[in-house]
Amino acid sequence: MGDEANDKLLNTGDGPGSEKSAVEDVKYYTLEEIRVHNMSTDTWLIIHDKVYDITGFLEEHPGGEEVLLEQAGADATESFEDVGHSTDAREMLEQYYVGEVHLDDRKKEKSKDAMLRIQRKAAIPGLPG
Ligand code: HEM
Repeated sequence: MGDEANDKLLNTGDGPGSEKSAVEDVKYYTLEEIRVHNMSTDTWLIIHDKVYDITGFLEEHPGGEEVLLEQAGADATESFEDVGHSTDAREMLEQYYVGEVHLDDRKKEKSKDAMLRIQRKAAIPGLPG
């Protein structure tokens, strides 16, 4: 338990095994599971289908904690990109990484589902969309 926390702190960049923890056991979270982490004492964000626990970063954020809390428990990709964050900011993200959005819950998958529904509806008239 303590080891894991240490690994996370130490895995800030170079050195052997720095990518190990991220690659070894990727955790997948559903949007439902992510949504509950929406308070200042427990804050998760989704950026590009990756999940970040940014609780400890709130006070450090140069853009303030307010904007982060507005997106807490949800997808902040658009706002993150709108700001045009620096490479430094993108690298900072890595240390807060906790997992990935469940494949079923990704936007791409969703639009594929929507497309299937439209096709099905077209093929079978009267089917509720
Ligand atoms: C965990 C994810 C985030 C990290 C690591 C992060 C990091 C940073 C960093 C390092 C800066 C300084 C400028 C730069 O290097 O680009 C910054 C600025 C800023 N961020 Fe974020 N940011 C994150 C998420 C967000 C989100 C989701 C929003 C908007 C909803 C946001 C809004 C801003 C704004 C408005 C500034 C500009 C502050 C200023 O220059 O006055 N950030 N952020």
